[in-house]
Amino acid sequence: MVATLLLTSSLVVMIISHLASAAAAPTSGAFIYHGFSGADLSLNGMAAVDPGGLLRLTNNTRQSMGHAFFPTPFNIVGRSFSTAFVFAILSQYPDVSAHGLAFALSPSKDLVGALPSQHLGLFDATDSGNSSDHIVAVELDTVQNLEYNDIDDNHVGIDINDLRSVDSAPASYFTDTSAGAAAGFKNLSLFGRRPLQLWVEYDGEATRLDVTLSPVGVAKPPVPLLSSTINLSSFLADETYVGFSAATGAVTALHYVLGWSFSLGGRAEEIDVSKLPSLPLAEGAAMKQRHLLHVALPTALLILILVVIVLVLMTARKMKYAEEREHWELEYGPHRISYKDLYRATNGFADENLLGAGGFGRVYRGVLTESKLEVAVKRVSNESRQGVKEFVAEIESIGRVRHRNLVQLLGYSRWRGELLLVYDYMPNGSLDKYLHDRPEVPLGWSQRFRIIKGIAAGLLYLHEEWEQVVLHRDIKASNVLLDREFSGRLGDFGLARLYDRGSNAQITHVVGTLGYLAPELSRTRIATTSSDVYAFGAFLLEVACGRRPVELKTSGVELVLVDWVLDLLKEGAVAEARDRRMGDDVAVEEVELVLKLGLLCSHPVPMSRPSMRQAVQFLSGDAPLPADILDNDMHLFGSVMRNTDAFVDSTISRPMEGSGLSAYQFTISETLFSSGR
Ligand SMILES: *[C@@H]1O[C@H](CO)[C@@H](O)[C@H](O)[C@H]1NC(C)=O
Ligand SMILES: *[C@@H]1O[C@H](CO)[C@@H](O)[C@H](O)[C@H]1NC(C)=O
Ligand SMILES: *[C@@H]1O[C@H](CO)[C@@H](O)[C@H](O)[C@H]1NC(C)=O
Ligand SMILES: *[C@@H]1O[C@H](CO)[C@@H](O)[C@H](O)[C@H]1NC(C)=O
Repeated sequence: MVATLLLTSSLVVMIISHLASAAAAPTSGAFIYHGFSGADLSLNGMAAVDPGGLLRLTNNTRQSMGHAFFPTPFNIVGRSFSTAFVFAILSQYPDVSAHGLAFALSPSKDLVGALPSQHLGLFDATDSGNSSDHIVAVELDTVQNLEYNDIDDNHVGIDINDLRSVDSAPASYFTDTSAGAAAGFKNLSLFGRRPLQLWVEYDGEATRLDVTLSPVGVAKPPVPLLSSTINLSSFLADETYVGFSAATGAVTALHYVLGWSFSLGGRAEEIDVSKLPSLPLAEGAAMKQRHLLHVALPTALLILILVVIVLVLMTARKMKYAEEREHWELEYGPHRISYKDLYRATNGFADENLLGAGGFGRVYRGVLTESKLEVAVKRVSNESRQGVKEFVAEIESIGRVRHRNLVQLLGYSRWRGELLLVYDYMPNGSLDKYLHDRPEVPLGWSQRFRIIKGIAAGLLYLHEEWEQVVLHRDIKASNVLLDREFSGRLGDFGLARLYDRGSNAQITHVVGTLGYLAPELSRTRIATTSSDVYAFGAFLLEVACGRRPVELKTSGVELVLVDWVLDLLKEGAVAEARDRRMGDDVAVEEVELVLKLGLLCSHPVPMSRPSMRQAVQFLSGDAPLPADILDNDMHLFGSVMRNTDAFVDSTISRPMEGSGLSAYQFTISETLFSSGR
């Protein structure tokens, strides 16, 4: 009973004391809001706290205003105070807003009679400048009203009982030199749709009012935007409410306060920006975002996925066709053909496009997509990266060699350790198969003679008529190709030298084919025009006789063609050596000429061989063959040819089945030569 009485009486005392404290404005106090959910603020007009905790002073109603005040007044007279708040103005338009927001000290929470628009919800139309108002405000004005001497439409001002500010400045904040720019005030927009922070600090003793603005996320600038000496005590009432006012006009805007800190007699607690509610998106932006979420985003995702797929495919494609290319190759532009084009041209180097395989690599038939040009693509392994530049330079040089009896090199490509050489396509293949593969219709003598003369002309061009001496180094029937008219064209010229350059420079490969290799090569290892002439001699005998330079008989005994022809010559029956498949319709003098020239070119002593110019003259009848073919040097023939026994153990690349390239090919390395010495 007593306890209940005591409790009741203490409750009554508490209520009375509470009422008393509410009646007499406290002379000290502090509060802080991070968002306003559940905050006991006095709101009127359009002001409301959004579900997210944002204090919204206006909505999108024109000519409207809103007020929000801390519910209890303070007695600020003769005191200092400090406040900080984070606000944002979201205007209807990006470049114009209305009318602004103010931090207000007012004797009234509802500001009866105040007007929206340029009056900022603070004053009425008549009493501006009336000291009985006791209103002090810091305005964040976004409209320039010339009747109030506004400096611009984006300024901060101090108003005392009047919209004609006692002090104002364009919205800006002080930055030091840390950003690298000159120290000074940096402009910002009050309605830039991003939160800004304002500090209002009044020093009651110094009667100084400092106003400082900055974007959220930037530390409080050391220099305030406004600093005025004003004795607020002479303007304020004993009971002063602190809060906000905002107004719209013909244009609407949303005026938000996100957080607020206040302290009477001390320093306002710092606002923790991370605790603040987030701003809503503008109507248009929200619409855009909804659109983004429901339509644009899935579409964008789909497009992104497609783009990624395409990129991946393109990269894979690129990888597939990626070729080695070096900057200096640009200067050799014309002969470079992309690997992709060659890949397409040959159906991806399909087996059915394979023409054959020779000593240097496989050869494919192809049709270049754009030009519809038929080409032969030779894939040469080029594992060694050494001398690549010389390699390409050589190809470029060869690419410029043009003669009707030479297979034109059209271009090249490099891809993964391979060199791809692109030649004119020769529809009738190599001469080799007409000589040795038992063709249904053997080549007649006139065709053979024409081919021989053509090859002689081509070789002469390489040796003497082009701008530099080009050695062929691998003349043989399988390297003679027949064009549509069955004219002979020498292929693979210069390739042997290329091959040398592309391979390890420490080991000199002598490239050539048994029976075509000049005997001096075993000693000197230096190819000359004479060694080419020697091979040409072997070729002449091969074409005329339809036999390989060295044939292994079933008995195991080898037939050395040059010995055999020489023996027949000694017997005075050299024409008997001719290919019997040619029939009887042969010009015997021409056959004898070719056979004798073949022997002469096969002379073991290089100096005794004719030059290609002489050979051409003999073949054309412009000069007679020397009468003394059978001079005393000729006994050397047999012994020299038998030295080829040393080479037989070397690597033999057997012809590919059905390749049409059936000559045995030997690559004789230095080691073999050394051991054979
Ligand atoms: C603005 O707020 C007022 C008062 O709460 C309300 O009547 C009005 O419909 C609101 N207008 C808009 C556009 O939200
Ligand atoms: C100031 O306001 C008071 C009260 O509203 C009024 O009586 C007085 O005439 C006003 N003074 C001026 C100069 O408008
Ligand atoms: C800042 O704004 C004011 C007023 O609008 C203008 O006079 C001043 O040139 C601006 N300063 C800069 C650096 O843009
Ligand atoms: C400020 O004004 C009040 C009232 O008018 C006065 O009592 C006080 O001395 C003034 N303070 C200063 C620093 O001038």
